[in-house]
Amino acid sequence: MKIWKISEIINWATDLLTSKDIENPKLDSEYIIAHVLGMSRLELNLHQDDDITEDDLVLIQNMISRRQKNEPLQYILGETDFYGLTFKVNEHVLIPRPETELLVEKIIKENPAVEEILEIGTGSGAIAIALAANIKNVKIIAVDISNEALQVARENAVKNKVNINFCFSDVFENVIGKYDLIISNPPYISNKEYQYLSSEIREYEPLIALLADDNGLAFYKKILCSAKDYLTENGKIYFEIGYSLSESIKKVAEENGFRNIETVKDLNDFDRMMVIEA
Ligand SMILES: C[S@@+](CC[C@H](N)C(=O)[O-])C[C@H]1O[C@@H](n2cnc3c(N)ncnc32)[C@H](O)[C@@H]1O
Repeated sequence: MKIWKISEIINWATDLLTSKDIENPKLDSEYIIAHVLGMSRLELNLHQDDDITEDDLVLIQNMISRRQKNEPLQYILGETDFYGLTFKVNEHVLIPRPETELLVEKIIKENPAVEEILEIGTGSGAIAIALAANIKNVKIIAVDISNEALQVARENAVKNKVNINFCFSDVFENVIGKYDLIISNPPYISNKEYQYLSSEIREYEPLIALLADDNGLAFYKKILCSAKDYLTENGKIYFEIGYSLSESIKKVAEENGFRNIETVKDLNDFDRMMVIEA
């Protein structure tokens, strides 16, 4: 049987992914091979002439074949980085996005001494865990309607050494108490938009994390209708939003008695976050 060198397997994998029009074929190949060999990408490139064992070769071939079918790299590796921390991810949780790091950054900057936070729709736990790791003594309750996602979030809290109370809840259904901040990056893709998503998202990321009725507004409406019952006197809501939804969300917020409403753009100049105060 042929013994493969690292450089040869990188070239083989890159050619295969290129032939399937996968974006960044060389980078993805290197991430997969480095992951299997327990190396960084830098180490991989310094060991180009090393041989690969048969067991590692099989693992690499399996992972490359998954990537060839468009499965997101993060699910194949089983982890991703978010706000300087590493999170387990699988098919039950949305892959945390870089835009969401902006939301976390803004919350930390504007609320360095906040005491109690509620997160709705925590998924992998990325937002709640990044906040717990960066705000001293904060108490966080994070809810989701997916038990499988909550299991991943709990593992991520242990992995990142933070304490969070994760609960099963349909929005506020099982929530009690009042919070200084309510944070949510809820599902916000409308049925119409869904058909235009890349197959990488449509075929692999959980539908329950993406789709929302009422042209993407359903969760914002549900949260805004009841939020006052769960906010402390000067409490605030932080939303990540679909880029086309800011005006509609503002209207719903005003209808529910909120007056101080800020919309913030992301690095691509799209409306991406809203901060809503009573
Ligand atoms: C867009 S994902 C956000 C995940 C994570 N917070 C992030 O920013 O990466 C939305 C999350 O809301 C959860 N979700 C969907 N419907 C829900 C509901 N009715 N009540 C609570 N959570 C829900 C999904 O399971 C998913 O984890």
